[in-house]
Amino acid sequence: MTRAAEIIADRAGRAPVRLGLVLGSGLGALADELEDATAFPFADLPEFPVSGVSGHAGALVVGTLEGVRVALLSGRAHYYEKGEAAVMRPALETVKALGADTVLLTNSAGSLRDEMPPGSLMSLMDHMSISGLNPLIGEATDDRFVNMVDAYAPHLRARLKAADEMLNEGVYAWFSGPSFETPAEIRAARILGADAVGMSTVPETILARFLGLEVAAVSVITNYGAGMTGRPLSHAETKSEAAKAQTRFRALVRAFVRSFA
Ligand code: HPA
Repeated sequence: MTRAAEIIADRAGRAPVRLGLVLGSGLGALADELEDATAFPFADLPEFPVSGVSGHAGALVVGTLEGVRVALLSGRAHYYEKGEAAVMRPALETVKALGADTVLLTNSAGSLRDEMPPGSLMSLMDHMSISGLNPLIGEATDDRFVNMVDAYAPHLRARLKAADEMLNEGVYAWFSGPSFETPAEIRAARILGADAVGMSTVPETILARFLGLEVAAVSVITNYGAGMTGRPLSHAETKSEAAKAQTRFRALVRAFVRSFA
């Protein structure tokens, strides 16, 4: 057990959690819907990152959703805050130590596909780390050579698809941020085969697979990629569009979680 997991189990009880949920920018409202919830601000948990991004509350909440015991991370930390790709490692290790074998990672992302407008949801079928960054750099054991074929487990993708028939599937490209991409970078990412771009999730997927957790991931599309509409991009738009998509997003997450009941 991590020290954080000990602290959590002492207060929230030792019954194992089934699932870890990581909520992205502007998507944290689900944390308020857990039953029998016990919340731990990141600041109270050893080694947990304190995220300074507006729209990210920064708490781990243990509770029940759709009859399933979950550990929910509302407010992740990002690579771009301090330049640490492994910033979410203690949090994911803790979710695993609490008993989870599966994580659902969520994020806000820009769309590279004309037919996937803001408000759409996309299940990740694969990803690319455009920047070449990796959270396992410095890891010394052979375990670092993590297989990334089917990193987004096909049987979990099927559960997501069953939960929302309109769900898109696509490839998510990780740019480090925090500046948004340039129009030239977006054109390049489209040519490379990406369907969406964002500043998170990829290092978490790599860490989760390293830890032996199964991964599913969902992007909430908040905007078209830079240069696709002629309008500038902003974090305010990310937050407001994420808020507008909350109803469908929450329904998808709840249905996915319910499939574990
Ligand atoms: N680029 C990167 N990250 C994002 C975007 C984007 O267009 N939208 C929301 N998060």
